[in-house]
Amino acid sequence: MNNGVVFQISPGGKLCGETRIASDKSISHRSIIFGSLAQGVTHVDGFLEAEDTLSTLKAFRSLGVKIDHHGQGRVDIHGVGMNGLRPSQQPIDLGNSGTSMRLMSGLLAAQAFDSVLTGDSSLSKRPMQRVTKPLTEMGASIETTDTGTAPITIHGNRQLHGLQYSMQIASAQVKSCLLLAGLYAHGTTSITEPAPTRDHTERMLEGFGYPLQRQGSTVRIDGRQTSLKALSIDVPGDISSAAFFMVGAAISPGSDVLLKHVGVNPTRTGIIDILSLMGADIQLSNQQIIGGEPVADIHVRYAPLSGINIPEQLVPLAIDEFPVIFVAAACAEGETLLTGAAELRVKESDRIQVMADGLQILNVNAQPTTDGMRITGSEINGGRVDSHGDHRIAMAFAIAGLKASAEIVINNCDNVQTSFPEFADIARSLGLNIASKN
Ligand code: S3P
Repeated sequence: MNNGVVFQISPGGKLCGETRIASDKSISHRSIIFGSLAQGVTHVDGFLEAEDTLSTLKAFRSLGVKIDHHGQGRVDIHGVGMNGLRPSQQPIDLGNSGTSMRLMSGLLAAQAFDSVLTGDSSLSKRPMQRVTKPLTEMGASIETTDTGTAPITIHGNRQLHGLQYSMQIASAQVKSCLLLAGLYAHGTTSITEPAPTRDHTERMLEGFGYPLQRQGSTVRIDGRQTSLKALSIDVPGDISSAAFFMVGAAISPGSDVLLKHVGVNPTRTGIIDILSLMGADIQLSNQQIIGGEPVADIHVRYAPLSGINIPEQLVPLAIDEFPVIFVAAACAEGETLLTGAAELRVKESDRIQVMADGLQILNVNAQPTTDGMRITGSEINGGRVDSHGDHRIAMAFAIAGLKASAEIVINNCDNVQTSFPEFADIARSLGLNIASKN
Protein backbone atom coordinates (compact mmCIF):
# COMPACT_ATOMS: atom_id res chain seq x y z
CA MET A 1 0.00 0.00 0.00
CA ASN A 2 1.26 3.50 -0.81
CA ASN A 3 1.36 5.65 2.31
CA GLY A 4 2.40 8.83 0.49
CA VAL A 5 4.77 11.10 2.34
CA VAL A 6 5.56 9.49 5.69
CA PHE A 7 6.80 11.39 8.76
CA GLN A 8 9.01 9.44 11.17
CA ILE A 9 9.50 11.02 14.56
CA SER A 10 12.22 9.70 16.86
CA PRO A 11 10.99 10.14 20.40
CA GLY A 12 11.94 12.91 22.78
CA GLY A 13 13.69 16.23 22.43
CA LYS A 14 12.62 19.78 23.11
CA LEU A 15 11.98 22.89 20.99
CA CYS A 16 14.37 25.83 21.28
CA GLY A 17 15.12 28.86 19.13
CA GLU A 18 13.31 31.54 17.18
CA THR A 19 11.64 31.36 13.80
CA ARG A 20 9.11 32.89 11.43
CA ILE A 21 6.44 30.43 10.51
CA ALA A 22 4.25 30.06 7.41
CA SER A 23 2.12 33.04 6.44
CA ASP A 24 -1.55 33.24 7.29
CA LYS A 25 -3.66 31.12 4.99
CA SER A 26 -6.96 32.94 5.53
CA ILE A 27 -5.44 36.37 4.87
CA SER A 28 -3.51 35.10 1.83
CA HIS A 29 -6.70 33.76 0.20
CA ARG A 30 -8.51 37.02 0.83
CA SER A 31 -5.64 39.13 -0.50
CA ILE A 32 -6.01 37.40 -3.90
CA ILE A 33 -9.80 37.67 -3.90
CA PHE A 34 -10.06 41.35 -2.97
CA GLY A 35 -6.92 42.32 -4.91
CA SER A 36 -8.56 40.82 -8.02
CA LEU A 37 -11.76 42.84 -7.49
CA ALA A 38 -9.96 46.11 -6.77
CA GLN A 39 -8.97 48.89 -9.12
CA GLY A 40 -5.20 49.15 -9.40
CA VAL A 41 -2.36 46.83 -8.46
CA THR A 42 -2.38 45.19 -5.02
CA HIS A 43 1.11 44.28 -3.76
CA VAL A 44 1.25 41.34 -1.37
CA ASP A 45 4.24 40.49 0.79
CA GLY A 46 4.28 37.31 2.81
CA PHE A 47 1.71 35.52 0.62
CA LEU A 48 1.49 31.88 1.77
CA GLU A 49 3.30 29.73 -0.79
CA ALA A 50 1.23 26.58 -0.25
CA GLU A 51 -1.19 24.46 -2.24
CA ASP A 52 -4.44 25.91 -0.86
CA THR A 53 -3.59 29.54 -1.47
CA LEU A 54 -2.04 28.74 -4.85
CA SER A 55 -5.39 27.14 -5.76
CA THR A 56 -7.03 30.52 -5.18
CA LEU A 57 -4.31 32.30 -7.13
CA LYS A 58 -4.72 29.95 -10.11
CA ALA A 59 -8.50 30.23 -9.90
CA PHE A 60 -8.40 34.01 -10.28
CA ARG A 61 -5.96 33.74 -13.15
CA SER A 62 -8.46 31.47 -14.85
CA LEU A 63 -11.06 34.21 -14.28
CA GLY A 64 -8.96 36.62 -16.30
CA VAL A 65 -6.93 38.35 -13.59
CA LYS A 66 -3.25 39.05 -14.27
CA ILE A 67 -1.31 37.97 -11.21
CA ASP A 68 2.49 38.25 -11.10
CA HIS A 69 3.86 35.67 -8.72
CA HIS A 70 7.45 36.61 -7.94
CA GLY A 71 7.95 33.79 -5.40
CA GLN A 72 8.99 34.06 -1.74
CA GLY A 73 5.61 35.48 -0.86
CA ARG A 74 5.66 38.41 -3.28
CA VAL A 75 2.60 38.72 -5.48
CA ASP A 76 1.24 41.61 -7.56
CA ILE A 77 -2.43 41.41 -8.46
CA HIS A 78 -3.63 43.57 -11.33
CA GLY A 79 -7.18 44.14 -10.17
CA VAL A 80 -9.92 44.04 -12.79
CA GLY A 81 -12.53 45.90 -10.76
CA MET A 82 -15.73 44.46 -9.36
CA ASN A 83 -17.20 43.75 -12.80
CA GLY A 84 -14.06 42.72 -14.64
CA LEU A 85 -13.91 38.96 -13.99
CA ARG A 86 -14.24 36.76 -17.10
CA PRO A 87 -15.58 33.19 -17.32
CA SER A 88 -13.09 30.42 -16.75
CA GLN A 89 -12.65 28.23 -19.83
CA GLN A 90 -12.74 25.09 -17.67
CA PRO A 91 -14.08 23.95 -14.29
CA ILE A 92 -12.13 25.64 -11.49
CA ASP A 93 -10.27 23.01 -9.47
CA LEU A 94 -9.76 24.19 -5.89
CA GLY A 95 -7.87 21.12 -4.68
CA ASN A 96 -8.21 20.65 -0.93
CA SER A 97 -9.25 24.21 -0.15
CA GLY A 98 -12.63 24.69 1.52
CA THR A 99 -12.00 28.40 1.99
CA SER A 100 -11.49 28.91 -1.76
CA MET A 101 -14.62 26.96 -2.62
CA ARG A 102 -16.96 28.57 -0.10
CA LEU A 103 -15.77 32.14 -0.62
CA MET A 104 -15.69 31.86 -4.39
CA SER A 105 -19.23 30.42 -4.46
CA GLY A 106 -20.52 33.72 -3.08
CA LEU A 107 -18.51 35.81 -5.48
CA LEU A 108 -19.25 33.75 -8.59
CA ALA A 109 -22.98 33.49 -7.82
CA ALA A 110 -23.09 37.25 -8.45
CA GLN A 111 -21.26 37.27 -11.80
CA ALA A 112 -22.73 37.52 -15.28
CA PHE A 113 -21.33 34.13 -16.34
CA ASP A 114 -21.56 30.46 -15.34
CA SER A 115 -18.88 28.65 -13.29
CA VAL A 116 -18.16 25.14 -12.06
CA LEU A 117 -16.12 24.56 -8.90
CA THR A 118 -14.49 21.19 -8.18
CA GLY A 119 -12.11 19.85 -5.54
CA ASP A 120 -10.15 16.79 -4.42
CA SER A 121 -11.73 13.76 -2.76
CA SER A 122 -11.70 15.37 0.72
CA LEU A 123 -13.19 18.69 -0.46
CA SER A 124 -15.77 16.78 -2.50
CA LYS A 125 -17.12 15.27 0.74
CA ARG A 126 -17.50 18.53 2.65
CA PRO A 127 -20.90 20.18 3.18
CA MET A 128 -21.63 23.01 0.75
CA GLN A 129 -25.33 23.55 1.46
CA ARG A 130 -24.31 25.89 4.25
CA VAL A 131 -23.39 28.34 1.45
CA THR A 132 -25.65 27.26 -1.41
CA LYS A 133 -28.83 27.53 0.67
CA PRO A 134 -28.46 31.20 1.74
CA LEU A 135 -27.08 32.10 -1.70
CA THR A 136 -30.22 30.62 -3.27
CA GLU A 137 -32.29 32.73 -0.88
CA MET A 138 -30.41 35.75 -2.26
CA GLY A 139 -31.55 34.80 -5.76
CA ALA A 140 -28.55 32.74 -6.91
CA SER A 141 -28.91 29.73 -9.17
CA ILE A 142 -26.53 27.13 -7.83
CA GLU A 143 -26.41 23.33 -7.80
CA THR A 144 -24.48 20.72 -5.86
CA THR A 145 -24.67 16.92 -5.88
CA ASP A 146 -27.73 15.36 -4.23
CA THR A 147 -25.79 15.14 -0.98
CA GLY A 148 -24.95 18.84 -1.02
CA THR A 149 -21.32 18.48 -2.03
CA ALA A 150 -19.05 19.69 -4.85
CA PRO A 151 -18.93 19.94 -7.84
CA ILE A 152 -20.81 23.21 -7.52
CA THR A 153 -22.44 24.53 -10.69
CA ILE A 154 -23.25 28.23 -10.64
CA HIS A 155 -25.51 29.81 -13.25
CA GLY A 156 -24.63 33.47 -13.62
CA ASN A 157 -26.61 36.49 -14.71
CA ARG A 158 -28.92 36.48 -11.72
CA GLN A 159 -29.53 39.74 -9.88
CA LEU A 160 -28.98 38.99 -6.21
CA HIS A 161 -30.86 40.78 -3.49
CA GLY A 162 -29.86 41.44 0.10
CA LEU A 163 -30.75 38.95 2.82
CA GLN A 164 -31.06 38.99 6.58
CA TYR A 165 -29.37 35.79 7.60
CA SER A 166 -28.86 34.27 11.00
CA MET A 167 -26.19 31.54 10.71
CA GLN A 168 -26.86 28.27 12.55
CA ILE A 169 -23.16 27.44 12.72
CA ALA A 170 -20.27 29.72 13.57
CA SER A 171 -18.44 29.82 10.23
CA ALA A 172 -16.21 32.55 8.84
CA GLN A 173 -16.35 30.87 5.45
CA VAL A 174 -20.15 31.16 5.29
CA LYS A 175 -20.06 34.74 6.58
CA SER A 176 -17.38 35.68 4.03
CA CYS A 177 -19.24 33.97 1.18
CA LEU A 178 -22.36 36.00 1.92
CA LEU A 179 -20.40 39.24 2.28
CA LEU A 180 -18.90 38.63 -1.17
CA ALA A 181 -22.35 37.99 -2.64
CA GLY A 182 -23.65 40.99 -0.68
CA LEU A 183 -21.10 43.25 -2.40
CA TYR A 184 -23.10 42.76 -5.61
CA ALA A 185 -26.64 42.43 -4.21
CA HIS A 186 -29.39 45.03 -4.39
CA GLY A 187 -29.99 46.32 -0.89
CA THR A 188 -28.50 45.27 2.42
CA THR A 189 -27.15 41.87 3.36
CA SER A 190 -27.04 41.37 7.10
CA ILE A 191 -25.37 38.34 8.66
CA THR A 192 -25.62 37.41 12.32
CA GLU A 193 -23.27 34.81 13.75
CA PRO A 194 -23.98 32.60 16.78
CA ALA A 195 -20.43 33.20 18.09
CA PRO A 196 -17.56 35.38 16.89
CA THR A 197 -15.53 33.91 14.01
CA ARG A 198 -12.44 35.20 12.22
CA ASP A 199 -13.08 38.64 10.79
CA HIS A 200 -10.33 38.95 8.17
CA THR A 201 -12.91 39.52 5.42
CA GLU A 202 -14.46 42.45 7.27
CA ARG A 203 -11.06 43.98 8.02
CA MET A 204 -9.88 43.55 4.46
CA LEU A 205 -13.05 44.97 2.89
CA GLU A 206 -12.61 48.05 5.07
CA GLY A 207 -8.93 48.19 4.09
CA PHE A 208 -9.90 48.17 0.41
CA GLY A 209 -12.23 51.09 1.11
CA TYR A 210 -15.60 49.32 1.11
CA PRO A 211 -17.96 50.36 3.92
CA LEU A 212 -19.44 47.82 6.35
CA GLN A 213 -21.46 48.18 9.49
CA ARG A 214 -20.47 45.94 12.37
CA GLN A 215 -22.69 45.84 15.40
CA GLY A 216 -22.37 43.12 18.02
CA SER A 217 -22.70 39.77 16.30
CA THR A 218 -24.10 41.27 13.08
CA VAL A 219 -22.30 42.59 10.04
CA ARG A 220 -24.14 44.50 7.29
CA ILE A 221 -23.05 45.32 3.79
CA ASP A 222 -24.87 47.45 1.20
CA GLY A 223 -24.30 46.21 -2.34
CA ARG A 224 -22.67 48.19 -5.14
CA GLN A 225 -21.75 51.21 -2.99
CA THR A 226 -18.29 51.97 -4.31
CA SER A 227 -15.27 50.34 -5.92
CA LEU A 228 -12.46 48.58 -4.06
CA LYS A 229 -9.11 50.37 -4.16
CA ALA A 230 -5.85 48.45 -4.44
CA LEU A 231 -3.49 48.48 -1.47
CA SER A 232 -0.33 46.88 -0.14
CA ILE A 233 -0.77 43.86 2.12
CA ASP A 234 1.79 42.38 4.51
CA VAL A 235 0.56 38.93 5.53
CA PRO A 236 1.63 37.95 9.07
CA GLY A 237 2.50 34.42 10.22
CA ASP A 238 -0.39 32.01 10.69
CA ILE A 239 -1.28 31.37 14.33
CA SER A 240 -2.75 28.05 13.16
CA SER A 241 0.74 27.00 11.98
CA ALA A 242 2.42 28.55 15.04
CA ALA A 243 0.09 26.43 17.19
CA PHE A 244 2.11 23.26 16.51
CA PHE A 245 5.25 24.79 17.98
CA MET A 246 3.34 26.50 20.79
CA VAL A 247 2.07 23.10 21.91
CA GLY A 248 5.43 21.43 21.22
CA ALA A 249 7.20 23.92 23.50
CA ALA A 250 4.46 23.75 26.13
CA ILE A 251 4.72 19.95 26.50
CA SER A 252 8.48 19.28 26.34
CA PRO A 253 10.66 20.18 29.36
CA GLY A 254 13.45 22.67 28.64
CA SER A 255 11.69 24.17 25.59
CA ASP A 256 11.90 27.87 24.82
CA VAL A 257 10.69 29.17 21.43
CA LEU A 258 10.05 32.59 20.00
CA LEU A 259 7.63 32.66 17.05
CA LYS A 260 8.07 35.97 15.28
CA HIS A 261 5.50 38.17 13.56
CA VAL A 262 2.41 36.01 14.07
CA GLY A 263 -1.13 37.25 13.46
CA VAL A 264 -2.96 37.59 16.80
CA ASN A 265 -6.33 38.82 15.61
CA PRO A 266 -8.60 38.27 18.67
CA THR A 267 -10.88 36.06 16.58
CA ARG A 268 -7.96 33.62 16.18
CA THR A 269 -6.30 33.51 19.60
CA GLY A 270 -8.34 30.74 21.24
CA ILE A 271 -5.21 28.56 21.20
CA ILE A 272 -3.42 31.05 23.47
CA ASP A 273 -6.39 31.19 25.86
CA ILE A 274 -6.84 27.41 25.96
CA LEU A 275 -3.16 26.64 26.52
CA SER A 276 -2.92 29.41 29.15
CA LEU A 277 -5.92 27.94 31.00
CA MET A 278 -4.03 24.61 30.98
CA GLY A 279 -1.06 26.33 32.64
CA ALA A 280 1.19 27.07 29.63
CA ASP A 281 3.78 29.85 29.84
CA ILE A 282 3.00 32.10 26.84
CA GLN A 283 4.06 35.74 26.50
CA LEU A 284 3.28 38.15 23.67
CA SER A 285 5.69 40.96 22.80
CA ASN A 286 6.28 43.48 20.05
CA GLN A 287 2.54 43.88 19.52
CA GLN A 288 1.56 46.10 16.61
CA ILE A 289 -1.20 46.59 14.05
CA ILE A 290 -0.05 45.95 10.48
CA GLY A 291 -2.51 46.53 7.63
CA GLY A 292 -5.42 46.43 10.06
CA GLU A 293 -4.38 43.09 11.61
CA PRO A 294 -2.81 42.69 15.08
CA VAL A 295 0.62 41.02 14.97
CA ALA A 296 2.99 39.93 17.77
CA ASP A 297 5.94 37.73 18.67
CA ILE A 298 4.84 34.70 20.71
CA HIS A 299 7.23 33.33 23.33
CA VAL A 300 6.47 29.90 24.76
CA ARG A 301 8.43 28.10 27.49
CA TYR A 302 7.77 24.69 28.95
CA ALA A 303 5.45 24.54 31.97
CA PRO A 304 3.46 21.55 33.23
CA LEU A 305 -0.08 21.43 31.82
CA SER A 306 -3.32 20.43 33.57
CA GLY A 307 -6.51 19.13 31.98
CA ILE A 308 -9.45 21.55 31.68
CA ASN A 309 -13.02 21.78 30.47
CA ILE A 310 -12.51 23.85 27.32
CA PRO A 311 -14.93 26.80 27.42
CA GLU A 312 -17.31 26.46 24.46
CA GLN A 313 -17.02 30.12 23.49
CA LEU A 314 -13.35 29.49 22.68
CA VAL A 315 -14.16 26.76 20.14
CA PRO A 316 -14.66 28.97 17.03
CA LEU A 317 -11.61 31.01 18.04
CA ALA A 318 -9.40 27.90 17.93
CA ILE A 319 -11.33 25.83 15.39
CA ASP A 320 -8.30 24.71 13.37
CA GLU A 321 -6.08 24.04 16.38
CA PHE A 322 -7.92 21.13 18.01
CA PRO A 323 -5.80 18.34 16.54
CA VAL A 324 -2.75 19.74 18.33
CA ILE A 325 -4.77 20.82 21.39
CA PHE A 326 -5.71 17.13 21.74
CA VAL A 327 -1.98 16.36 21.85
CA ALA A 328 -1.54 18.98 24.60
CA ALA A 329 -4.43 17.33 26.47
CA ALA A 330 -2.76 13.92 26.14
CA CYS A 331 0.33 15.41 27.84
CA ALA A 332 -1.59 17.23 30.59
CA GLU A 333 -2.22 16.01 34.12
CA GLY A 334 -5.82 14.81 34.44
CA GLU A 335 -8.78 15.06 32.11
CA THR A 336 -9.55 17.53 29.32
CA LEU A 337 -13.09 17.77 27.98
CA LEU A 338 -14.06 19.40 24.69
CA THR A 339 -17.75 19.98 23.88
CA GLY A 340 -19.59 22.10 21.31
CA ALA A 341 -17.14 21.26 18.52
CA ALA A 342 -19.18 19.10 16.10
CA GLU A 343 -17.78 21.22 13.24
CA LEU A 344 -14.51 19.31 13.65
CA ARG A 345 -16.23 16.33 12.05
CA VAL A 346 -16.55 18.15 8.69
CA LYS A 347 -13.06 19.61 8.33
CA GLU A 348 -10.43 18.20 5.94
CA SER A 349 -11.07 14.92 7.80
CA ASP A 350 -13.36 13.97 10.69
CA ARG A 351 -10.89 15.44 13.16
CA ILE A 352 -12.64 14.00 16.22
CA GLN A 353 -12.60 10.41 14.98
CA VAL A 354 -9.23 10.53 13.25
CA MET A 355 -7.47 12.05 16.28
CA ALA A 356 -9.21 9.65 18.68
CA ASP A 357 -8.15 6.66 16.54
CA GLY A 358 -4.55 7.84 16.36
CA LEU A 359 -4.29 8.72 20.05
CA GLN A 360 -5.70 5.31 20.98
CA ILE A 361 -3.04 3.64 18.84
CA LEU A 362 -0.51 5.60 20.92
CA ASN A 363 -2.22 4.23 24.05
CA VAL A 364 -3.82 7.51 25.10
CA ASN A 365 -7.27 7.36 26.67
CA ALA A 366 -9.16 9.49 24.11
CA GLN A 367 -12.93 9.07 23.96
CA PRO A 368 -14.69 10.72 21.02
CA THR A 369 -18.18 12.15 21.55
CA THR A 370 -20.62 13.52 18.99
CA ASP A 371 -19.36 17.07 19.48
CA GLY A 372 -15.97 16.75 21.10
CA MET A 373 -13.55 14.53 22.98
CA ARG A 374 -12.58 13.44 26.48
CA ILE A 375 -8.86 12.86 26.94
CA THR A 376 -6.98 11.71 30.01
CA GLY A 377 -3.32 12.67 30.09
CA SER A 378 -0.86 9.78 30.22
CA GLU A 379 2.34 8.46 28.75
CA ILE A 380 2.32 8.42 24.93
CA ASN A 381 3.55 5.23 23.25
CA GLY A 382 5.07 4.95 19.80
CA GLY A 383 3.14 3.52 16.86
CA ARG A 384 1.97 4.01 13.29
CA VAL A 385 -0.92 6.43 12.76
CA ASP A 386 -2.66 7.82 9.67
CA SER A 387 -3.31 11.48 8.96
CA HIS A 388 -6.12 10.58 6.52
CA GLY A 389 -4.64 13.17 4.19
CA ASP A 390 -5.35 15.97 6.68
CA HIS A 391 -2.44 18.40 7.07
CA ARG A 392 -3.23 19.40 10.64
CA ILE A 393 -3.58 15.79 11.81
CA ALA A 394 -0.15 14.99 10.34
CA MET A 395 1.53 17.93 12.06
CA ALA A 396 -0.26 17.31 15.38
CA PHE A 397 0.99 13.70 15.59
CA ALA A 398 4.48 14.85 14.64
CA ILE A 399 4.46 17.12 17.70
CA ALA A 400 3.28 14.21 19.88
CA GLY A 401 6.65 12.59 19.10
CA LEU A 402 8.30 15.03 21.55
CA LYS A 403 6.65 13.18 24.42
CA ALA A 404 6.43 9.66 23.00
CA SER A 405 8.30 6.69 24.46
CA ALA A 406 9.08 5.23 21.00
CA GLU A 407 9.01 6.19 17.33
CA ILE A 408 5.80 7.60 15.85
CA VAL A 409 5.27 6.99 12.12
CA ILE A 410 2.60 9.05 10.37
CA ASN A 411 1.22 7.96 6.99
CA ASN A 412 -0.17 10.20 4.26
CA CYS A 413 1.40 13.51 5.16
CA ASP A 414 1.46 14.89 1.59
CA ASN A 415 -1.21 17.45 2.40
CA VAL A 416 1.05 19.31 4.82
CA GLN A 417 1.85 21.10 1.54
CA THR A 418 -1.63 22.69 1.62
CA SER A 419 -0.81 25.03 4.51
CA PHE A 420 2.76 24.65 5.78
CA PRO A 421 5.27 23.21 3.28
CA GLU A 422 8.29 24.08 5.49
CA PHE A 423 6.84 22.39 8.58
CA ALA A 424 9.33 19.51 8.76
CA ASP A 425 12.34 21.77 8.13
CA ILE A 426 11.34 24.33 10.75
CA ALA A 427 10.38 21.62 13.24
CA ARG A 428 13.80 20.00 12.75
CA SER A 429 15.60 23.31 13.16
CA LEU A 430 13.82 23.85 16.49
CA GLY A 431 14.70 20.37 17.76
CA LEU A 432 12.06 17.84 16.65
CA ASN A 433 13.62 14.57 15.44
CA ILE A 434 11.60 14.35 12.25
CA ALA A 435 12.38 12.60 8.99
CA SER A 436 10.10 12.99 5.98
CA LYS A 437 10.14 10.17 3.40
CA ASN A 438 8.38 9.63 0.11
C1 S3P B 1 -11.50 29.75 7.47
C2 S3P B 1 -12.55 29.51 8.31
C3 S3P B 1 -12.68 28.29 9.10
C4 S3P B 1 -11.37 27.53 9.20
C5 S3P B 1 -10.69 27.42 7.88
C6 S3P B 1 -10.37 28.81 7.33
C7 S3P B 1 -11.47 31.01 6.70
O1 S3P B 1 -13.64 27.44 8.51
O2 S3P B 1 -11.59 26.24 9.72
O3 S3P B 1 -9.48 26.69 7.98
O4 S3P B 1 -10.40 31.39 6.17
O5 S3P B 1 -12.52 31.68 6.64
P1 S3P B 1 -15.20 27.48 8.92
O6 S3P B 1 -15.76 28.75 8.44
O7 S3P B 1 -15.80 26.30 8.18
O8 S3P B 1 -15.24 27.30 10.41
